[in-house]
Amino acid sequence: MTIADKKITKDILLNWKANTAHSEWSLHQLSPYIGKLKSSVAHSLIKNYTKEGDIIYDPFCGAGTIPLEAWALNRSVIANDLNYYAFVLTNAKLNPPKTLSGVLKKIDSYNLQIDTLKSNVDLRKVPQWVRAFFHRETLRETIAWCEVLRKNNEYFILSCLLGILHHQRPGFLSYPSSHSVPYLRVNKFPQNKFPKLYEYRNVSERLKRKAERAFKRTPELNYKTKRYSYYNDATSFVPQVPIDVIISSPPYMRQLDYARDNRLRLWFLGIQEYKNLDTIISPTETDFIKSMIKCLTTWHKALKPGGLCILILGDAQSKLYEMRLPDMISKIAIEELGKYKLEMKFQSIIPERRRVRKNCKGSERETVIVFKKII
Ligand SMILES: C[S@@+](CC[C@H](N)C(=O)[O-])C[C@H]1O[C@@H](n2cnc3c(N)ncnc32)[C@H](O)[C@@H]1O
Repeated sequence: MTIADKKITKDILLNWKANTAHSEWSLHQLSPYIGKLKSSVAHSLIKNYTKEGDIIYDPFCGAGTIPLEAWALNRSVIANDLNYYAFVLTNAKLNPPKTLSGVLKKIDSYNLQIDTLKSNVDLRKVPQWVRAFFHRETLRETIAWCEVLRKNNEYFILSCLLGILHHQRPGFLSYPSSHSVPYLRVNKFPQNKFPKLYEYRNVSERLKRKAERAFKRTPELNYKTKRYSYYNDATSFVPQVPIDVIISSPPYMRQLDYARDNRLRLWFLGIQEYKNLDTIISPTETDFIKSMIKCLTTWHKALKPGGLCILILGDAQSKLYEMRLPDMISKIAIEELGKYKLEMKFQSIIPERRRVRKNCKGSERETVIVFKKII
């Protein structure tokens, strides 16, 4: 490892350990997303491996962490994810309103339509598992808000709404429940002991407070920088411009359920069938390997000569290859496809083990692999 490589590794590892909850751009905290990358790690990778004006592509962008950090560092961005919730959230982060006062005015103006829309909502059409999370009137109002925001492509305010959809705190809309994944906490907070947590909640006031929180720490953003966000299958999607650097964290090989864990947010976005979506975006090992072979082949075509492909990978064990996920991806990219050479590889312990699917151990480490396109 050269001295420069050692410096980069140290910088990234320090950023992995850092507690950034109170220092990162507040837009990163717009709404939760499982398997989200630490923004400080994204920042460090972008700063060390790309330069201003480069075009960065994140094919599995999730909550849009890499795209937002890239834009904040004045890089052009192409983002993509096949989870519609991820697409909405990334769109919000790549196209935030310029001023808070503008958002607050918009919320007030949409609010004028809500009473009429709300009275048309037929709760009999809402599945019982969704109804279980909300007071009837809050649910009616939330559905009306989603309808108006979706119709007007208001991704930022829509993401604010998704970000306050469920939790146990008063600033949120549901009965007491967890924040990142939708589980009711009625046993911990029974209605007879916590009656306030089960009362009607006004949506517009909570939306405004959420928007204020989102504007708390905002970067200097250059709105002329090109940013694109897509909702496609990464295995077949080819960006229309040559890419300087790909930076992405692919799905963690059967460990996380990206659709199931976002099922309540997806329902409000009009996606009711999350199980089918999970067969694609939370793939089995065999499907994951097939999709990574397709992706690495497609990305090779999309990258400029000598372009970099940087992957952040969990340390799941591959049964088929009998090796850890990062070693398996290196073997595919370098030996089987022969399209890349290894530029750098380093590993870090994840401070908190991720919540994972039943019967999976979960990643304790993450590995960054930097491939360079050859041929
Ligand atoms: C580890 S997460 C990415 C997290 C992201 N870096 C962040 O900070 O939020 C992997 C993402 O890949 C997406 N995904 C899985 N399979 C996909 C596919 N075939 N095409 C596009 N996106 C896919 C999932 O929806 C998920 O958001």
